[in-house]
Amino acid sequence: MKVDVVLGSFYGDEGKGKIIDYLGGKANVALRATGGANAGHSIEVDGEKFVFHLIPSGILNKGTLAIIGNGVVLDPKVLIEEINTLKEKGRDVSKLRISNKAHVVFPYHLGLDKMLEDMRGNNKIGTTIRGIGPCYCDKYERSGIRVEDLYSDKFEELVKRNVENKNRLFKLNGYPEYDYKEIVKEYKKYARTIKKYVCDTTVLIHKLIKENKKIICEGAQATLLDIDHGSYPYVTSSNPTIGGILTGSGLNPHNIGEVYGVMKAYSSRVGEGPYVTEQNNEIGDMIRELGHEYGATTKRPRRCGYLDLVALRYAVLINGITALCMNHLDTIGKLAKIKLCVAYERDGKITEDFTTNEKELLESTPVYEEFVGNYGDISNIRRKEDLPSQAKEYIKRIEEYIGVPIKFIGVGAGREEIIVE
Ligand code: IMO
Ligand code: MG
Repeated sequence: MKVDVVLGSFYGDEGKGKIIDYLGGKANVALRATGGANAGHSIEVDGEKFVFHLIPSGILNKGTLAIIGNGVVLDPKVLIEEINTLKEKGRDVSKLRISNKAHVVFPYHLGLDKMLEDMRGNNKIGTTIRGIGPCYCDKYERSGIRVEDLYSDKFEELVKRNVENKNRLFKLNGYPEYDYKEIVKEYKKYARTIKKYVCDTTVLIHKLIKENKKIICEGAQATLLDIDHGSYPYVTSSNPTIGGILTGSGLNPHNIGEVYGVMKAYSSRVGEGPYVTEQNNEIGDMIRELGHEYGATTKRPRRCGYLDLVALRYAVLINGITALCMNHLDTIGKLAKIKLCVAYERDGKITEDFTTNEKELLESTPVYEEFVGNYGDISNIRRKEDLPSQAKEYIKRIEEYIGVPIKFIGVGAGREEIIVE
């Protein structure tokens, strides 16, 4: 049985939760392999809203095993809050599994995230201040603390060494220092709470594949936020693209089946960095209000704009996307006129090649094609052929340009408001 992967195609917040929720109904296992509590995946089930930051949202499906893989940076405080919320809402969390190899986020990572952002001044990245970058830094610098270390005799020593090192930086820059003994006490408590979920998830995943279990991997963040393939430095500190899914779980390339690229019928970005099709005007404001484009993690208003096919085709190439999932067709359909970016113009030349170079992105102006909007209420439509002709034309142009079919179309916020081809 192949593992299907759901990935963000743009700058995040594409509505991965909705597609994952749909596919998850048929899966035995939901897997998260990358990122941390910077992600915010909202789904609505029976009128009840859930926001997930760490736990794969597939846990909402009865009997589905939810695995947090080794590539995730785990903030146990956020995790335990999430577990408690699920329990309060009567959901079964006994099927949660956490990799012993996942790195742990500590309070000093959040402190560093904040300090580093402050120090960047006008060049700030606009991070979520969830300690993501500093935690991955420790991982790659090989001083990080993994979930299994929470249960080791060396735990206190590891925390002490880390806190002492970080405190030097905090002191130097006039930021509050941390008390390692307090952290040890707090984290030992967390460790006891989550112990029953911890195991070697790599071994587990391969066992499940052998048993022919269906695994859906829930991507976090997105292609253009990738540390290698995104708009560096305005990116996250991990690889949310397909490569990160493999290293973040222990899957191999032969395990992968479908790669679903999630996108919106328009685009959005939170945080700083270039954004070629941004509408920093009344159109952008309108899309934000119509699409409720406010961050699930930080509540920040999202920057909004038209769909960028140059960027989307790049995401398809990087990830090997086999099918597209387009959300918010209803939202874009409320505009009278819809624009679609089909090329960039730079230095008087037209190109269809995406670039991650900051200067080139800033100098690129979008070349648009125009489409008619005013779709009316499409939330009850369940077949592509029943969509208004203007909507069909828009979809056809996207598929033709990208060369990959759009298999899911979101036509409303509700769980059932989706067209599946
Ligand atoms: P989901 O999974 C949108 C952005 C932040 C910032 C940059 C770096 O919900 O799509 P970080 O805290 O990761 O160091 O911030 O990345 N960012 C996201 N934007 N959706 C996300 O996740 C994001 N996770 C990180 O806004 O620009
Ligand atoms: Mg988000």
